Amino acid sequence: MAKAPIDMFQLSCIQIAIALLLFNQVKSTTETFSLHPSGSCVTSERSALLTFRAGLSDPANLLSSWKGDNCCRWKGVYCSKRTGHVIRLDLAGPYCEIGYWGMEVVLDDWGTHALAGNISSSLLGLQHLWYLDLSCNGFDKIQIPEFLGSLHKLRYLDLSMSFIGKIPPQLGNLSNLRYLSLHSSLYYSSLAYHGTTYSTDITWLSRLTSLVHLDMTNVNLSTIVQWLPVVNMLQTLKVLHLHFCQLRSSPDSMQLSNLTSLETLYLGGNKFHKPIRPNWFWDLTSLKYFDISGNGFHGPFPDEIGNMTSIVELYLYDNDLVGMIPSNMKNLCTLEIFDSSNNNIDGTTTEIFHRLPSCSWNKLQDLFLGESNLTGSLPTTLIETLSNLTWLDLAGNRLTGHVPVWLGELTKLRMLNLCYNNLDGVIHEGHLSGLHMLEGLRLSDNSIAITVSPTWVPPFSLAMIHLRSCQLGPKFPTWLRWQTQVVSLDVSNTSINDMLPNWFWIAASSVEYLNIGNNQITGVLPSRMEFMKAKVMDFSLNQLGGPIPKFSVNLLMLDLSQNNFIGPLPLDFGAPGLIALLLYNNMISGSIPSSLCMLQSLQMLDLSRNNLNGSITDCLVNNSSTNMSGLSILNLSLRNNNLSGEFPAILQKCPQLTFLDLRDNQFSGILPAWIGEKLLSLSFLRLRSNMFHGHIPVELMKLPNLQYLDLAYNNISGSIPLSIVNCTGMAQARDESSGLEYAFTFGAMYDENELVDYTENFMVLTKGQERLYTEEIIYMVNLDLSSNSLTGGIPEEISTLLELKSLNLSWNNFNRKIPDNIGRLMQVESLDLSHNELSGEIPSSLSALTSLSRLNLSYNNLSGKIPTGDQLQTLEDPTSIYIGNPGLCGSPLSRKCSSQPDPIPGENHGDASSDAVSFLLGTSYGYVVGLWLVFCTFLFKRKWRASWYSLYDRAYLQVAVYLRFPER
Ligand SMILES: *[C@@H]1O[C@H](CO)[C@@H](O)[C@H](O)[C@H]1NC(C)=O
Ligand SMILES: *[C@@H]1O[C@H](CO)[C@@H](O)[C@H](O)[C@H]1NC(C)=O
Ligand SMILES: *[C@@H]1O[C@H](CO)[C@@H](O)[C@H](O)[C@H]1NC(C)=O
Ligand SMILES: *[C@@H]1O[C@H](CO)[C@@H](O)[C@H](O)[C@H]1NC(C)=O
Repeated sequence: MAKAPIDMFQLSCIQIAIALLLFNQVKSTTETFSLHPSGSCVTSERSALLTFRAGLSDPANLLSSWKGDNCCRWKGVYCSKRTGHVIRLDLAGPYCEIGYWGMEVVLDDWGTHALAGNISSSLLGLQHLWYLDLSCNGFDKIQIPEFLGSLHKLRYLDLSMSFIGKIPPQLGNLSNLRYLSLHSSLYYSSLAYHGTTYSTDITWLSRLTSLVHLDMTNVNLSTIVQWLPVVNMLQTLKVLHLHFCQLRSSPDSMQLSNLTSLETLYLGGNKFHKPIRPNWFWDLTSLKYFDISGNGFHGPFPDEIGNMTSIVELYLYDNDLVGMIPSNMKNLCTLEIFDSSNNNIDGTTTEIFHRLPSCSWNKLQDLFLGESNLTGSLPTTLIETLSNLTWLDLAGNRLTGHVPVWLGELTKLRMLNLCYNNLDGVIHEGHLSGLHMLEGLRLSDNSIAITVSPTWVPPFSLAMIHLRSCQLGPKFPTWLRWQTQVVSLDVSNTSINDMLPNWFWIAASSVEYLNIGNNQITGVLPSRMEFMKAKVMDFSLNQLGGPIPKFSVNLLMLDLSQNNFIGPLPLDFGAPGLIALLLYNNMISGSIPSSLCMLQSLQMLDLSRNNLNGSITDCLVNNSSTNMSGLSILNLSLRNNNLSGEFPAILQKCPQLTFLDLRDNQFSGILPAWIGEKLLSLSFLRLRSNMFHGHIPVELMKLPNLQYLDLAYNNISGSIPLSIVNCTGMAQARDESSGLEYAFTFGAMYDENELVDYTENFMVLTKGQERLYTEEIIYMVNLDLSSNSLTGGIPEEISTLLELKSLNLSWNNFNRKIPDNIGRLMQVESLDLSHNELSGEIPSSLSALTSLSRLNLSYNNLSGKIPTGDQLQTLEDPTSIYIGNPGLCGSPLSRKCSSQPDPIPGENHGDASSDAVSFLLGTSYGYVVGLWLVFCTFLFKRKWRASWYSLYDRAYLQVAVYLRFPER
């Protein structure tokens, strides 16, 4: 448990990233087709196409036009005007975006919109084909067919985002190819993305001697060392994409006589991990588009950069480059995009601006210098304006001072990201009134105040407003009223102390990610909530009141915790897809409605600390007819209510339940045996302070993952079942892949649809000090059976629970000896056996407990000499540990073992029982991170950027996809 407590407010940025990605239809098929003079197609080709079609599955009926005699009129089929032969087949799937980021995302229901099935070799009947595009389809169960290598006339072949498995070397026979895309799609497993296709030998590529454009992004080439000599055979190559290919070797130098035409080299996301220089690619001084991001390159920024005088886009981000950018960057007079984020420049912004090439000052469009350890303040004036700047990202640095007014002159600016700095001062209309094109304003986590006139109408219409922890209040900022196109809005912790204005609900109705948490906002939620677009809403930590209304069908996550909501829960939540619902710390009353059981996607439900009453068995009764397959719930907290009745039977339908907290309620009855049989994922079970009676079921102790069991303050009787040895969750070190994290993190762990990385923060009481732990819960191994009526001996088997950190059996009727082998519990930090009827000597093995920091053996019938040991000697308040055991003698007691027992002065004071519990989970934990969106992670930004451009530069189809990104 060597984890440092984490500051609550640092967490905000760490945990989750929810990306809204917008897609566009990349490959729009121009509906012009050519006709052979005779007006019909070649019969043999027509039947080849029909056979091909017969092998496909086409759920969206994309090929509905494939009927009639004239195949030249079929969708995607193009014939030669002169010969009538099919020369072009364009069957790209409708929705998929291939960015060079290698992080392609597809629609949820992509599969239903794309072609799948098998590819018939009848295609070989189309021997005149020079263009074939099968990209973005659902051939995700088959390999690229080898016979494609026999379509000798092919000049253009796009097989991206469709296939799996080995890439057939037969493609090397297509010696006429100019364009080849094998861009692979990705799947997620073991916390990483992997390409779905691979090759172990790419020598076949060297035969494609006419190739101009080669894209092998995401193709797993990890076993190939000599890839560069192969590529170097391609004399006509202009564009080379080898992003995320798991390449490891990048030679220092190379006779690159053949790559003289290369203009685009994308090598990002490989695994080179070597010094940035020397490297073969520095000889390619005529590159225009160059990406070596995320490769583990280290060392100072090389002077060679200054020799790339044709460079237009330069991506160096996510490496370990150090120091100032080279002064000869001045030569890069065509530079439009420079991204060096997440390297350690460790200099001032003034110097950076000084070194950026002034000859390209008016061309520079995107400047990314986030996470670069930049210091100083932004220059107060600029010599020339960056007249073409559209994207400025300096987030996550150590910038101080005010935001300069010249930013307001960047009239083409679309995104301003200054999040996570130490900027202060005031931003007023003068900073903003010129920014007509602004779409993203991101200033979160600075000390900036935004002070504009209440009547100010902004010239821009923002899509992204991230102002977390800026000073906007106390009045609700009225300029937001005019921002009606917002997709993502975060004004949490902005000192707003005001009533929610009515117009807010109109302005916010299009917002998908909405966070106004942590203010002093009053008001009630209107019934029009039902019509909001939001998928995620965080209103936590405000003073909102009134009843909880029906939500919209779009809602996936809702946090209304720590407000003043009253009344019963709605009978119809209206949000069938809800994944997380956090309503803790309100004044919600009434019983838990059966509609909650209808939320079959719900993974996290926290209703704790409200005034709920009644039993929750109704839920099951009402739903028994609907033949529920089971609920998805992982994390359920109902603590601190007045709920009563038996242990909730509905939980039998929750096989994935991992975390269950029913603490401080009025539940009664026995603990059913099915807990141990049906809740096989259960790791954390807290039933403390209820009225359960009867024995601890033997089955309960068989739960394989149970690592936290708290049954304290009930009326449990009988003895501890010996089956306790089966509690592997307490006996063995945690399997990193075990389930408990999942109860708190809805990352992309098991499928793409997961949404949130959610971390609960627990207040943990240790030695009288409250400390905030985050994620620690997954390391807590605890058995607390205190304050019950348990009898018999403490079983020796308890010593098999080697991972226990806290063991509390106090205030029961345990008798007999303390097991001799108790000293095997080497991890135990807190051990409380007080207020029982234990007798005999204290086992000397106790002194072997080197982690022990709290021990209480008071008020038993222990006798004999207290064992000595280094650790025992260091414990605080040593006498109270042993008090109330008249038969004990030796240090630290004043009674000598050789002499008659003396009465101990002051024996009767002190109740050392419950305070002594280390890891007593306190009363004030909260989901600090909860639903907060991370708006400043750079990965996030980069993904966003892809979509940002597609949103604004092309026709788009809007769809939300959720990705989980690493911590920043
Ligand atoms: C350049 O390409 C030609 C033809 O592909 C090949 O024969 C030659 O070996 C290549 N040169 C180098 C240095 O690889
Ligand atoms: C830049 O190019 C010049 C001329 O080709 C060459 O002399 C110099 O060594 C190059 N600089 C670096 C750092 O490679
Ligand atoms: C500014 O950027 C636009 C594209 O956004 C480009 O067409 C134009 O040429 C650029 N201006 C200069 C001076 O480079
Ligand atoms: C930033 O620079 C300082 C020295 O100025 C250094 O101590 C620190 O480690 C750097 N931070 C990072 C994240 O590299």
